Amino acid sequence: MYFVANWKMFGDLRTLNLLDKVIKFSKTNKKHKFKIVYCPPNTLIRPLSRRLKKTKIEVGAQNCHHSYEYGAHTGQVNSSMLKNVGAKYVILGHSENRQLGETDNLINLKIKSAIKSGLKIIFCIGETLKERRTKKTNQVLKRQIEKGLKSIKNKSKIIIAYEPVWSIGTGVIPKEAALIQAISFIKSRFVKKYPKILYGGSVNANNADKLKKIPNIDGFLIGGASQSPKKFIDIIQKTII
Ligand code: PGA
Repeated sequence: MYFVANWKMFGDLRTLNLLDKVIKFSKTNKKHKFKIVYCPPNTLIRPLSRRLKKTKIEVGAQNCHHSYEYGAHTGQVNSSMLKNVGAKYVILGHSENRQLGETDNLINLKIKSAIKSGLKIIFCIGETLKERRTKKTNQVLKRQIEKGLKSIKNKSKIIIAYEPVWSIGTGVIPKEAALIQAISFIKSRFVKKYPKILYGGSVNANNADKLKKIPNIDGFLIGGASQSPKKFIDIIQKTII
């Protein structure tokens, strides 16, 4: 099971001290099979990966520029620069970035560049509330996957994160039947051969044991609750133990 912490715009150097608890937890629970990936803001990738050097916890980034080359892109960072400072993963296509104007085509270019850099990609897809209400969920997921992964042959580095937009940060998770339907739609139609599917959106210690029973969920992408080591560990415990 994957437990990916998406810190969004949270955390400074002092915050990293809190992670000692999670490091200890990861070391003392080695017999259970799980992987923790922390995706902090770019400012913390280097210090965090140094701190996690002798642990099994890995580090990822939350976005990257689509160009593999250096260039005149003020304020941007590309995938190889992220790799260079210790990132092994990058989250791409997050709805908070799609809302800022990131298109399926741009996400496709980002994924290609991240593959070239040797990063693993956590590729986020998910419908809005309006799309769900108008029964467009499958259509939206299909479009996001087809366009996002267009002309990418080797998908071994791609992990899909199904994140219904209306579930992110709201405390509301999909009903069991709806989640089973969406995950199996993704799995059967598009990702039969791809390694993993995560669920993201308001995951917490109270809903983790329910969510883990959904077939074909290989882990969680966790926002708010991952900022607290205690809440994050609680979710892992509820899921794997
Ligand atoms: P949340 O965020 O857990 O706070 O809902 C999930 C995400 O945005 O990846």
